[in-house]
Amino acid sequence: MQIAHISDLHLVADAGPVGLLRKDAVLRAYALIRDLNEFTPALDLVVITGDTVNDAREDEYRVLSGLLAELRIPYLLVPGNHDDRHLLRSVAPHQPYAEPDFMYHRRDLGTLRILALDTLSPGEIGGRLLSGQLDWLAHELAQPFEGQTFIAMHHPPCKPRLGRLDGPTLMEGTAQLQALLDAQPAPVTILCGHMHRPFTAFLGRSLISAATSTAFEFALQLDANEEPPTHDAPYHYVIHALDTQGGHAMHRRTPIF
Ligand SMILES: [Fe+2]
Repeated sequence: MQIAHISDLHLVADAGPVGLLRKDAVLRAYALIRDLNEFTPALDLVVITGDTVNDAREDEYRVLSGLLAELRIPYLLVPGNHDDRHLLRSVAPHQPYAEPDFMYHRRDLGTLRILALDTLSPGEIGGRLLSGQLDWLAHELAQPFEGQTFIAMHHPPCKPRLGRLDGPTLMEGTAQLQALLDAQPAPVTILCGHMHRPFTAFLGRSLISAATSTAFEFALQLDANEEPPTHDAPYHYVIHALDTQGGHAMHRRTPIF
């Protein structure tokens, strides 16, 4: 089984310059979708960890809807701080969301269960896991399950130690999340985004794997006094290849400009 992880598309509806966004952000997102579709052997799922659009506008979600219509692989969505939860839900209304006002849900795929978390806290850059969602997560984790567990969430439940980039990440619920995951019989993999730089870290026994962004990527700048520049490094995403023995991660460099 192969799971691709992408994040932070920051789609816009207009071609004009917007903040740090590359002018070709939408074209790059389409190129990425083509690359995902053409990957062999075929991918089983694409996990998209939030910030799908840039300003949570309806016209941007129409761009997202058109983009996802091109994707020939099942996908899973969670919101980021740039998203509007209800507009994003309307793009993918048939996913098995656990309750009407959030996007957390469970997806089983053979011997893999993915617990998708909704860390969006409207008006804040950082994210929160509130008690209702943590209770749901505890309930799901308590169900008997033979296989591997992935978590998908936008905000990293850690400080990535990336200098000035270490702004708000997950601001509430991190300790409770770690306690739940550390009580699992096997380590869990956490997929997240938000930082616009790839990195890996640990939360207790769980591996955190962060995807970068198609829209812009920060260069590595560890001096907290310096603003990190963006750069033109080739885009890459991670494919998690899983089997009954465990799994490994492959870094796929895409041929997008
Ligand atoms: Fe983002």
